[in-house]
Amino acid sequence: MYMRGRYVDDFLGLKCAGDILNVHTKIFPNVKEISESQAAYFAIVNHLDISPSDENVVLICPGDGKYSRTSILCAFRTKWTCINIDPEADTTLMDKVDRLTILNTKVQDLDLRFQEPTKLVIAAVHSHAPVLEIIKHLKCDGRRAMVAIPCCVSYRVPPYLPEFTYIDPYILSPKNDVLLWSDLK
Ligand SMILES: C[S@@+](CC[C@H](N)C(=O)[O-])C[C@H]1O[C@@H](n2cnc3c(N)ncnc32)[C@H](O)[C@@H]1O
Repeated sequence: MYMRGRYVDDFLGLKCAGDILNVHTKIFPNVKEISESQAAYFAIVNHLDISPSDENVVLICPGDGKYSRTSILCAFRTKWTCINIDPEADTTLMDKVDRLTILNTKVQDLDLRFQEPTKLVIAAVHSHAPVLEIIKHLKCDGRRAMVAIPCCVSYRVPPYLPEFTYIDPYILSPKNDVLLWSDLK
């Protein structure tokens, strides 16, 4: 059976799919973008074992682009607080989505530290934010997990090499390497 469209099929089956697409005409202009954001969501839920109903989760997506795609998908699919940090982000989208924050800046221009019971999850999807800056500027006293689906900026940087990696065939792009850190101390 031809299954490469699995993430797009799943998206089309969501009750909130129409609401997500209505946030902005350019939020998901093609199946590639849907598959990338869905891949990050499934990596977090299935491989990092983070529950969609956990209200203590803060998801930060550094470099989530102008349209905050992964942050918005996750804000609709979960109970998480979702934050895009990107100097190119359109902050007006914040008014249209519950539990969404958009910070129009580079990650290295912030210093965020969360306290328990918050669990911090970082999702860098085709982000150009440098991984060492992300790790340095986004901290948590409790669990700090991360998923990266890199494009042209490497996320395999010592000493923070990923704990687990896989190729995700359902990402409809040649950039389909998924890197995971279950708890960055
Ligand atoms: C290729 S775009 C990807 C956008 C989005 N992730 C997507 O897939 O639609 C890379 C993004 O990284 C952002 N970026 C570059 N350096 C950054 C930094 N230091 N902190 C946060 N974002 C950054 C850029 O502004 C850009 O929006």
